[in-house]
Amino acid sequence: MVSVAQLPSEKLESFFSTIISNPVRHSLWLNTLSLLEHIGSRKILLTQSSEETSEMILRHATEEARHALFFKKAAKSLRPEFKPGYHTNELLQGGSAKIYFAKLDAVVRRELKKAGFSGHTFTYLAYLYTTTVIEERAMIVYTIYNSVLESAEHSINLRNLILEEEGHLNEMSSELEKLDPSYKSRLKDLIDKEEVLFQKFFTRLNFVAA
Ligand SMILES: [Fe+2]
Ligand SMILES: [Fe+2]
Repeated sequence: MVSVAQLPSEKLESFFSTIISNPVRHSLWLNTLSLLEHIGSRKILLTQSSEETSEMILRHATEEARHALFFKKAAKSLRPEFKPGYHTNELLQGGSAKIYFAKLDAVVRRELKKAGFSGHTFTYLAYLYTTTVIEERAMIVYTIYNSVLESAEHSINLRNLILEEEGHLNEMSSELEKLDPSYKSRLKDLIDKEEVLFQKFFTRLNFVAA
């Protein structure tokens, strides 16, 4: 299988350099990240609440909720008068952000159904794969974003948040390894599919960055 070409990191770097130079757009971007973290947290609680709910799931949902709060506070720190909810005009390409998440979720579910999973294993694997693919993306995006923030000596720093995302990623992969014998090839395929969805989202973001 041929891999989908990855978005060059220079494109992300230049996007972040442009975004952070404009406090209004930067605050909208931070609130968009808050929305994505919030959707993640809400999804974990909605789909993983059962008699099987583990410490890992509660911790993960809690940390994503905390990330949502972190980004919303960071958005406000740039513009004290900005008291955002998640209305479209308080986000940077909020519609595309929601579509990105929803499509990814749909792709993961479709592929797992095709592979014959059902019941509790299906629901749990859907959570594990969606989260893993998003965490992989978060590691790329947050790491580049943070390096741009650090070189600009910006007041916002993502170091602790990145460490928590890294922790989630490790937990997810050990669970996947236990439950799905084809996890490596399935994950690679899903990461390729996510790349296509992210590039569409990024094209829209880039369009409004400058
Ligand atoms: Fe997060
Ligand atoms: Fe996470």
